Amino acid sequence: MTRIRALRIAAGYAVIAGVWILASDTALVVFGVTGQDVARVSLLKGFGFVVVTSLALYLLTDRFVRREQERDREHRRDLERQVRERTAELEQVNEQLRIATEAKSAFLATMSHELRTPLNSIIGFTGLLTEGLSGPLTDQQREQLGIVRDAGKHLLTLIDDILDLSKIEAGRVEIRRAPVTLGVIVDSIDAMFAPIAAAEGIEWRSVRGPGLPAELVTDRTRVEQVLANLVGNAFKYTDEGSVSLEVTADGGCVRFAVKDTGPGIPESEQERIFAEFVRLGESGPAAPAEVEGSGLGLAIAARLARLLCGHIELISAPGEGATFTFVLPTGDEECPEPLES
Ligand SMILES: Nc1ncnc2c1ncn2[C@@H]1O[C@H](COP(=O)(O)OP(=O)(O)O)[C@@H](O)[C@H]1O
Ligand SMILES: [Mg+2]
Repeated sequence: MTRIRALRIAAGYAVIAGVWILASDTALVVFGVTGQDVARVSLLKGFGFVVVTSLALYLLTDRFVRREQERDREHRRDLERQVRERTAELEQVNEQLRIATEAKSAFLATMSHELRTPLNSIIGFTGLLTEGLSGPLTDQQREQLGIVRDAGKHLLTLIDDILDLSKIEAGRVEIRRAPVTLGVIVDSIDAMFAPIAAAEGIEWRSVRGPGLPAELVTDRTRVEQVLANLVGNAFKYTDEGSVSLEVTADGGCVRFAVKDTGPGIPESEQERIFAEFVRLGESGPAAPAEVEGSGLGLAIAARLARLLCGHIELISAPGEGATFTFVLPTGDEECPEPLES
């Protein structure tokens, strides 16, 4: 297209130049310019040629440039319109997706609630039966009732996890910040896991570093939920050795490092295990095929950590245990928008 325009300009220029030469020469003849005068007039003719052809060239290219600019503007307007249309379409799809996700979460939350109630009855009544409150039992009956009760409890944990996750996804988890004594949080984790450590023959200790703030402004229940999840995993996947919780101060944050001497997690799996329903099977050294779990614990913990304006770090290598560190800001300033996972 541009080449045709350039050819047109050249042709226009040639026509005007030709006409000028022809017209000026004819004028010389008509006015009978001869001898000495020809030299003087041809100088003027030359200047006239330059002026006329330059003007012609200027007008021709100007028209050309203007047309190109107009086309550019039109093209840009077209692109902008297309972008606006696409954005509107995307927004619409996004909105539909949001509604679908909310509907899914609402469905899960209701279902989970409906499932919990009968399950609690199953667990409660098998407990009563096992204790012999409804009459004596044979050893076999007691053992079988124990299996029913354990299965019920497992199912309940799974439902609780699903309920938690769907609540977080639907943005229905409220973070209620209030001043909490840091020691109270550590003590409650201590109290929760000391009996488990004793029962499993695993060494357990909680260590508090220097310079820790006495108080945090945070949601105590949620912080404890994240920690219970990490320490629970440490015990679950550690057969022998130790599990520890080391709390240290780090600028405006408190670091809760949960360290274990378990099988460790290969680098390639370290991001994946924070996704929903991911459990390391035969692919990793932590082969939890025989360990119960849903693969939801870390997904919930990571999301809660973010809602609390913190995050979870992981350092681990196969055979060298794992250290999951929950980094939590101490401050009471309003949290910025939680990052989407
Ligand atoms: N402390 C740990 N040591 C080794 N592997 C771990 C540890 N914590 C988590 N994992 C791995 O990450 C997976 C996901 O953990 P999680 O989301 O808590 O689910 P679950 O415990 O129900 O399997 C676990 O199945 C396990 O393979
Ligand atoms: Mg877990």
